Amino acid sequence: MKIIYGADYNPEQWSKEIWLEDMKYMKEAHVNMVNLNIFGWAILEPEEGHYDFKMLDELMDLLYKNNIDVDLATATAAQPAWLSMKYDDVLPKDQSLNTIWHGSRQSYCPNSPNYRRRAIALVRKIGERYKTHPALKMWHINNEYSDHTHICYCDNCARSFRLWLESKYTLEEINERWGTSFWSQKYYHFSEIIPPRQTSADHNPGLVLDYKRFMSDSILELYLMENEILKALTPDIPISTNFMGNDNKPLDYYKWSNSIDIISWDSYPDITKTESPMNNALTHDLMRSLKQSGHILMEQAPNQVNWRKRNPNKRPGEMNTYSMQGIAHGCLGIMFFQWRQSLKGAEKFHSGMIPHNGVETRTFKEVCSLGKQLENMTPIEYKAKVAIYMDYDCWWALEYEPGPSIDMKYMDSIRSYYSYFFHHNIPVDFVFENSNLDNYDYVLAPNMYMIKESFSQTVHKYVKNGGQFILGPFSGIVDESDSVFKEGYLSTIKDLMGISVVGYDVLTHSNSISYKELTCIKWCDEIKLFTADSIADYQSDYYKETPAVTINQYGHGKSFYIGTCFNEEEMNKLLSSIITIKGIESPYNVEVITQGDHVMILNHTNIDQMFELCFFHNRSNITIKAHQTILLKK
Ligand code: GAL
Repeated sequence: MKIIYGADYNPEQWSKEIWLEDMKYMKEAHVNMVNLNIFGWAILEPEEGHYDFKMLDELMDLLYKNNIDVDLATATAAQPAWLSMKYDDVLPKDQSLNTIWHGSRQSYCPNSPNYRRRAIALVRKIGERYKTHPALKMWHINNEYSDHTHICYCDNCARSFRLWLESKYTLEEINERWGTSFWSQKYYHFSEIIPPRQTSADHNPGLVLDYKRFMSDSILELYLMENEILKALTPDIPISTNFMGNDNKPLDYYKWSNSIDIISWDSYPDITKTESPMNNALTHDLMRSLKQSGHILMEQAPNQVNWRKRNPNKRPGEMNTYSMQGIAHGCLGIMFFQWRQSLKGAEKFHSGMIPHNGVETRTFKEVCSLGKQLENMTPIEYKAKVAIYMDYDCWWALEYEPGPSIDMKYMDSIRSYYSYFFHHNIPVDFVFENSNLDNYDYVLAPNMYMIKESFSQTVHKYVKNGGQFILGPFSGIVDESDSVFKEGYLSTIKDLMGISVVGYDVLTHSNSISYKELTCIKWCDEIKLFTADSIADYQSDYYKETPAVTINQYGHGKSFYIGTCFNEEEMNKLLSSIITIKGIESPYNVEVITQGDHVMILNHTNIDQMFELCFFHNRSNITIKAHQTILLKK
């Protein structure tokens, strides 16, 4: 199976002479697929119901003639100006019901009947026109859903929210779930419920959580409405939409993943930060795990981006290391935004595979050499023995203010555990509420604030059969409606953990634990042992000498509770006392990935590195230059 290689191709910006040049240079760069028509709506439909496919027809034929496959976009990510101005339900509204105006992109309300109606008509036209075109190899629905508009508070959204609630709960259930007897919030009729618009003080957390679920579902409905049309017309053409990585909170990507054929995501690491290689690896692992199959790196910058405050160039080799990191973590394809750097518009200072200064540039040379390298590779099947639990509902509920501490951030907690495995070169998968855990030696849940009943049962079975479960602080607090468990923290997993958590302290200073005098930060759970043993106690404050880290034998397995937080270095020390899987030693940010026969060494640092690589029975001295990639076979 060949590795997909290419870019977003936006030829609407260029003359036909340039298109011909593009074909020549695409061959030189070994491009085999492009994402076409992502922002094409305004050209395709100049006025309501009148279509003009001339340019797209020509481009599809030209690409086919040049042996370049097309991932054809449905163009619904940016509606034409006439649509925004003609119907007053199209533009989204903020919390104070101010209009978010037309003039950028993706500025539409997810529940707008007119946006939906016109998007359906457009997608049907595109689907019917190109369903048998030989260049068509994949569908690209919309673009980065939720990037610019992830929430809207308008009256259409209010109406749809009530219908969404009615399809799930009775009014009595809503009052019970949201605890509306507090602050006089009881509802007597569905019509009284409104979105969490601007108010005088904090909103009801239950309502906010349900609104987040509703918004993720509303945007998913947009995807599904396009998906349904395309599936009916071209059942054999895979469909994807590009996700936005691990920092993107508005969409429940796990729920979405059931309806997507191939997961893809866009990677824009901040190259000035030392944690970026780790964070990028984490996102690949998360994206791959959503469907437990290969995913596509759908966009990355060939060189600099234009949307951070300062946008340095990727260093020589750095684009290659990030691309190879994708391959090493299971990618089926490596793509860029965009093929040719724009001369006009909002992204003219964002790099392209062909920069402003043409093909005699470092960027284009690096792009060509990567294309050539990928042509001789095939996708890697990624396997891991460690899994981290991820749950979007938990993330949303945990971070609704007012909470006990602004420092407890869901993805930060996940990163602090993931970092141990990344820096020890131990492969990791992510698991979700319905995943099978049987193949893992360790399952970690860094901040499982919300317990889901299905996962509670799965994890009981997993540990009983010999698995090892590691749970982080501020876990097991609420149920799925964000109500604190009346039977106490940890609720249904108390027996599994062998402890009860009787309270917590938010740290504005640090504390330490008796294991290696490690400094702990942010948070201290107050723990009572019940069948568990203490591995480390707190060393100061009113809970001095009470357990901070515990271990419990449960069936054939073990459960560990880590009731506090650590910085990266201290966390590494603690986890190395618990995890017995042997990693591979390498210098900081030199990543070594071993999967099947493949060994990939990626130097993510700006300096040359030398180290002794030991794995299985092999030992070799490695010298690797700054941002170099070395590929070996075992
Ligand atoms: C992505 C987007 C692309 C382009 C790119 C620039 O978020 O999908 O269209 O804007 O960012 O980095």
